Amino acid sequence: MSKIAVLFVCLGNICRSPLAEAAFRLEAERLGLAVDVDSAGTGGWHQGEPPDPRAQAVARRNGVDIGGYRARRVRGDDFDRFTHIVAMDGENLANLERLRPPGAQAELSLMLDHAGRAGEPVEDPYYGGDDGFDVTWADVRAAARGLAQALRHGGA
Ligand code: 4NP
Repeated sequence: MSKIAVLFVCLGNICRSPLAEAAFRLEAERLGLAVDVDSAGTGGWHQGEPPDPRAQAVARRNGVDIGGYRARRVRGDDFDRFTHIVAMDGENLANLERLRPPGAQAELSLMLDHAGRAGEPVEDPYYGGDDGFDVTWADVRAAARGLAQALRHGGA
């Protein structure tokens, strides 16, 4: 079996998906899971930028430095490089389904499916206050735990 590789996807790749990436890296490390991990956006406005300062701050408050992450857009070859692509909300999932090249193997899912909250979005905190980023962190942390545990047991 090829190595598990997980890509987390939101709209801008500066708020939710970098936090999902960080939370999943933490959990994979804790479980000793060998995985490749990255994040990307379906939109390209913030390409090359570091995460939003509010996302960096909530990560820092939870012991993780994401200041070195840089935003990028989803590419066609992501559907071959990654075994699992996890969207933060239904709109991003629909865009991924449209972008998926015919025959690509990556398994698509919604982030909160992995937290027992099937169909729910990780709400976009970009236009709200700082509190929203604490909610985002709690959501992605719960889902990252569920996903890492499922992958450790051979499913997802
Ligand atoms: P993200 O949040 O998708 O969680 O990274 C957003 C970041 C930027 C924009 C929208 C959402 N934007 O419109 O620029």
